[in-house]
Amino acid sequence: MSPPVRIIVVGAGCRGSIYSRYAIIHPDRVQVVGVADPSKFARTKFRQLYNIADENLCEDWHTFVQRDKCADAVLICTPDQLHKEPAVAFAKKGFHILLEKPMATTVEDCLEIVKTCSQNGVMLCVGHVLRYHPSICKIKELLDSGVIGDVIHIQHLEQIGSNHFAHSYVRGNWRNEAESSCSLLAKSCHDIDLIHHWAGGRKCLKVTSFGFVSHFSKNHKPTGAANRCLDCSVEDTCPYSASKIYLNPVKQGYTGWPVSIICHSAAPDIETVTEALKTGPYGRCVYECDNDVCSNQVVNMEFEGGLTAAFSMVAFTKELCVRRTTIYGSMGELSLLNNEVRVFDFLTQKTTKHVAAVNAREEFGLTGHGGADYLLIDSFISAVTNNDPSLIISDAEESLKSHLLVFEAERSRREDRVIHLDQSG
Ligand SMILES: NC(=O)c1ccc[n+]([C@@H]2O[C@H](COP(=O)([O-])OP(=O)(O)OC[C@H]3O[C@@H](n4cnc5c(N)ncnc54)[C@H](O)[C@@H]3O)[C@@H](O)[C@H]2O)c1
Repeated sequence: MSPPVRIIVVGAGCRGSIYSRYAIIHPDRVQVVGVADPSKFARTKFRQLYNIADENLCEDWHTFVQRDKCADAVLICTPDQLHKEPAVAFAKKGFHILLEKPMATTVEDCLEIVKTCSQNGVMLCVGHVLRYHPSICKIKELLDSGVIGDVIHIQHLEQIGSNHFAHSYVRGNWRNEAESSCSLLAKSCHDIDLIHHWAGGRKCLKVTSFGFVSHFSKNHKPTGAANRCLDCSVEDTCPYSASKIYLNPVKQGYTGWPVSIICHSAAPDIETVTEALKTGPYGRCVYECDNDVCSNQVVNMEFEGGLTAAFSMVAFTKELCVRRTTIYGSMGELSLLNNEVRVFDFLTQKTTKHVAAVNAREEFGLTGHGGADYLLIDSFISAVTNNDPSLIISDAEESLKSHLLVFEAERSRREDRVIHLDQSG
C-alpha cells in the first residue's frame, strides 16, 4: 500500500474545499498538509478539517516554494488571474499540479505553464471536470466505436441559468473581464473542450463567434429601482432581486451555494447575509454593476474532414448548467439529455438508450458536477500515486489545445471575422 499523497491547497475557497474533501473520504490515499490563502476564515476552516500544522497555514503560497518541498502535489484553485504564477513556480519545484480551469487568461501564460510542467517532468491535470462525467465518457466511447458512423456535426448548448449568471457573471467574481476573463473562457472552456474531445483528434481549421452582453445594463433598469435590492421599492417585480436569490433561501434554512459564497469571512445566517447584501457586491442591482462579459455567445467551428460544430452559451435559462448535446453521424444520431445518451440508428430505425452510472458523492455537494468533481480528483490522486499520467484525461496538451480554441473564438468575436487556425501545430 502506497503512503498517502501529500497535498497543498492554494486557494481554499469553493473549489479548493470541494477537491480537498477527498482526503476526508480517503485519508489512506490523501493528506492535506498545507494551505495557502489570504483569508483567515479559509485557513482556519482548513486547519479544523485537516489538522494542518501551524507553520503550513500560509497567507502567501510563495512560502511553500521558498521552503524545502513538503508535499507531492498542489491543488491550485485561486481566482482565474492568479493561476499562472503559482502553476509555474510549483512546477519548477517539482510538484504535480491540479490546476483549476481556465489554465490561465492569456495564450502566452497557458503555453508557459504547459512548457514548464513538461520541462520539470510534473503531471498537470486541468479542472475540466466534465471530461470525467460518466455520460461524457459514454459519448466518447460510443463515438469511438463508430456507432453513428463518421461524425458529421456536433450541436452543443450550455444553459447557464438566469440566477447563476446574475450571481457569478453580473454581480460576482467573473463579471468583469479585466478582473477575471471573458465568459467563454470562464464558463464555456469546458464546452469547447468537450467538442474538441468528441472531434477525436481532428484539427479545428476555422472558427467564428458572435456574442453580447444582453439585458444586464443601465438602460434596462426599471423605473424607480434603487442601486441596492434591500433599498429597492420595485424589488418584488424583479426576478434577479438579491433578496430572492440569497435572503429568502437563508430564511428557510438553506446555506448552500450561492448563499455560502457571499459572506466571505463568516458562516451564512440571516444577519451575515443581510450585511453582505447591504454592503457587498451581491446586494447590487443587476442593472448597476460593472459587468462586461457576454451573456449569450455562439461559436461555429470547422474541423478537418468537413466536421462542423455549433456551440451556444446562454444566460437566460431555467436550467442551471444543463448541457444539451446532439451529435449527427453518417449512420445515426446521438443525443445527451439528463445523463441519458440515446443513439438512433438510421439502418434499423431503432433508438438505444445508455444511462451512464453517476457516482455522486454526498461529501462533494449536491451534484459535484454529477459526480465528476470526485472522479477528477480521484484520477489525479491515482495518477500521482502510481506515477501514471495516462490516468489524467484532462492533461496539459489536450487542455492547451481546447484553451487555444477558446482564445481564437473570442478573437473572432472581437475582430468580427473568421479566424483561420494555424494548421501546422
Ligand atoms: N472546474 C469547474 O467546474 C470550476 C467551477 C467553478 C470555478 N472554477 C475555477 O476555480 C477557481 C476558483 O474558483 P472558486 O469558485 O473556488 O473561487 P473562490 O473565490 O471561492 O475561491 C478562491 C480562493 O482563492 C483565494 N485566494 C485569492 N488570492 C489568493 C492568493 N494570492 N493565494 C492563495 N489564495 C488566494 C481566495 O481567498 C479564495 O478563498 C477559479 O479559477 C474558477 O474559475 C472551476
